[in-house]
Order: sequence, then C-alpha cells, then structure tokens
Amino acid sequence: MRKLFKKTQSAWEPEKLPRHIAIVMDGNGRWAKKRSLPRTAGHAAGAETFRRIATYCKNIGIEYLTVYAFSTENWKRPPEEVEKIMQLLEKYIIEALGKMERDKVRMKFLGDVAVLSPRLRELVAKAEKLSKTFEGVQVNVCLNYGSRDEIIRAVKRYTADQIIESNASTESTKNMEETIGSLTEEKFSKYLYTADIPDPDLIIRPSGEHRVSNFLLWQSAYSEYYFTDVLWPDFNEKELDNAIIAYQSRERRYGAI
Ligand code: FPP
Repeated sequence: MRKLFKKTQSAWEPEKLPRHIAIVMDGNGRWAKKRSLPRTAGHAAGAETFRRIATYCKNIGIEYLTVYAFSTENWKRPPEEVEKIMQLLEKYIIEALGKMERDKVRMKFLGDVAVLSPRLRELVAKAEKLSKTFEGVQVNVCLNYGSRDEIIRAVKRYTADQIIESNASTESTKNMEETIGSLTEEKFSKYLYTADIPDPDLIIRPSGEHRVSNFLLWQSAYSEYYFTDVLWPDFNEKELDNAIIAYQSRERRYGAI
C-alpha cells in the first residue's frame, strides 16, 4: 500500500505518482572535472545524491526505486575508480543495515553479484535477507548489471529448467515444440533479475546523455523517459519533482489509441 506523502505538496498529483522510478546515475565524472576534483569525488557526491533521492522517494510514497550503480561494462574503468565505487557501495550497505529496521527500506541487488568481493557479496546477501519483509520503499541497486547479460542468463536458466523438467517427466520425450510454444512474456519475466518487480513507469537519465546504456531493456518496453542536463550529483528533490510532473503530463497508451 502506498504511504501518504509527508512533504508539502508539490505540483505533481499524489494519486498519479509513478509506482516505480528507475535512474541512470550519470554525470559524476563531469561534475568532478568541473571542480578540478578526481572522478572518485564525483562518485562520492553521486552516492550522497542517491541517499537523498532514496529518502525523498520513501517520503513521497514511491514504491520502487531502481538505480544503475555499476554496469557489466564499467569494469573497463581504471581499477582505482572501480575500487572507489565498490567502497562506496560497501559503505552505503553498512549504513543501510544500521537503519533498515527504522526506515523499513527493502533492498535488492540486481545483477551478477557472484564476481564481487566476498565482503561485498556478504553485505549484499545480509541486506537482502534482513530487509526482505519490510514494507517501505523497495530500493533496487543494479550492481554488475547489464540488460543483455540479464536476458541471456534468463534464456539459459529457462532452457535448463525445461531440460530438468523433461528429464523428470515420465513421458521422457517432452516435445520441444511444446516447450518453445509454451513460453510467454510473463513466464520469461520471472527469469529476469526483476522477477516480481513491476516494470518502471519512469526512467530518468540526467547529465544530458540520451542513451539507454543496456539498462532494463526488457522492462522499459512502456516506460516514460525523462532526460535532463543536470549532472547526477546536482540532482535533487526539485529535479525529481520536475521529472514526476513531466511524467504526469504524458498520456500512456501502451500501444492502444
Ligand atoms: C556514471 O557517471 C556513474 C557510475 C558509473 C557510478 C555510479 C555510482 C555511484 C553513484 C556510487 C555508488 C552507488 C550507491 C548506490 C551508493 P560517470 O562516471 O560515467 O560520469 P561521466 O559521464 O560524467 O564521466
């Protein structure tokens, strides 16, 4: 159930809030460069903005917030930058663990976490386990996430399940055509990292880039996009309000007329 928003009412309509907002946290490097700071300082500022926006989403009654923290392609960055992002994630999870009970934030990590450090993997598992039943906002952090990778994994897992099922079947020769024919969008969605999470209504990309960058390709089929030139560390509650207002002004037709 959506909570009542606590803040002074903004220009958006509370009954038409997006259920799920997804954000590409872009522009940290440029923000730092503009200030003659190392790129890592931009990520630290970006992590602060994330905290602020997650709190705001919780307060106004957004049900799901998904952020792109680290992509499958981000390993190509200099090792010290990758290390800093991982440290920021660790720091954030440790802090979140401390106030999770109070905030009732449900945390989920989307992506292939198997290759992360044992320490980070442990924190990720702990945060997910401890917050599983909390009924506040659900914050999904995309970590070592790539949408194409997610889809390929889903295909592999689905196929493996079918083989297991067919081996277990007493008729033993489960018809391949039948297997292929029985796959539906709904069934397939259950194999994605986002199983049981509604598709994003609104996807925000700051920093003036107009790309999708391998983010939620399947899930964004009917999402509304909002682009802004503001760099992620400068993004704030007012910017989110503007995105929500723009979203509410659009007519979503889902292919109908
Ligand atoms: C993109 O900006 C940003 C990233 C690849 C990292 C995002 C990570 C964080 C905000 C910190 C950790 C996250 C959490 C959830 C605590 P960019 O570096 O590509 O910016 P640029 O395009 O200006 O170079």
